Amino acid sequence: MGKMDIVLRLERPEDHHAVEELTREAFWKCIRGFCDEHLLVHRLRKCQVFVPELDYVAEVDGRIVGNIMYTKARIVEPSGKAHEVLTFGPLSVLPEYQNRGIGKALMLRTFDEARKLGYRAIVIFGHPDYYPRMGFRRAAEFGITTADGSSFDAFMALPLYEGALDEIRGRFFIDPVFESLDEKDVLEFDRNFPPKAKYVPVPINVLIDRLEGDARKALEGVGITYLDELAHRSEGDILAIPGMDEKALNTVRQVMLEHGWRWGKRKAQGRPLDLDPARSGDDNRVPDVRSPEEEDRQ
Ligand SMILES: CC(C)(COP(=O)(O)OP(=O)(O)OC[C@H]1O[C@@H](n2cnc3c(N)ncnc32)[C@H](O)[C@@H]1OP(=O)(O)O)[C@@H](O)C(=O)NCCC(=O)NCCS
Repeated sequence: MGKMDIVLRLERPEDHHAVEELTREAFWKCIRGFCDEHLLVHRLRKCQVFVPELDYVAEVDGRIVGNIMYTKARIVEPSGKAHEVLTFGPLSVLPEYQNRGIGKALMLRTFDEARKLGYRAIVIFGHPDYYPRMGFRRAAEFGITTADGSSFDAFMALPLYEGALDEIRGRFFIDPVFESLDEKDVLEFDRNFPPKAKYVPVPINVLIDRLEGDARKALEGVGITYLDELAHRSEGDILAIPGMDEKALNTVRQVMLEHGWRWGKRKAQGRPLDLDPARSGDDNRVPDVRSPEEEDRQ
């Protein structure tokens, strides 16, 4: 595949089903065995905290291949004073279009729009080695903790202008719509989509069997059941486990990649088992992003 043009535009009502389906595809690999993010998308649009001005889709050749959605959230200071911020999620790119700059394009465009709309910052839970590429830093660096007072690498913040978070310290609260969705509701909703084989998570042993000595004992001792659970842990988290070292970390990156997970700050050699070799190559790494107006002029 050669150079790819991406059109970024606001989601329209007639896109709803396609966006829910692409979200389902992007998040299908879920440890629980069923994906609930498409129902979340469906519910988010009806929420008071939903921000329709930032609900963007990415189109390639007229097909919707990516989406980002934002909701309003709050940072509450110990005094009780609350500050409005944004959070995004889901952010989804169809698996066959991943790793070609679409996620990045959706983020950069909406960060700009959010800034223009006057929002101060974005706070998220997400892949801890991916979002720092877009400027996110550990929320703890800004004195922001989760609602229960904790902090970890996957909890990150991005001020939208200089000093936007300087005077703000506190706990981060998101809308209850994000609380775990009822399995019955999800399975019922899922009937609106084509049948799909249940995802079976990958046992952690595929990794443990490739490690040696202390690193092997270290990972056995962490109590992880599935390889998939590493997706939301950072390289730093894993390296901090006593017994792990750079060599072992490289094996983790490698095994993750072999099972389709882009993981870690540095690249593993090779490509995921399900990645089409035809689409690697540098010519499509920096996609051409157009607005619908430019597209109309074509
Ligand atoms: C995460 C996601 C939105 C990224 O979108 P994308 O279009 O594939 O990403 P981009 O092309 O903009 O960025 C690709 C780069 O980020 C890296 N990357 C992607 N996911 C990563 C991860 N989880 N951890 C670390 N790096 C990651 C890739 O290796 C690639 O690096 P390179 O440019 O050095 O080759 C997409 O993979 C997706 O939909 N995943 C499934 C759903 C999901 O997890 N959503 C986010 C929830 S937090």
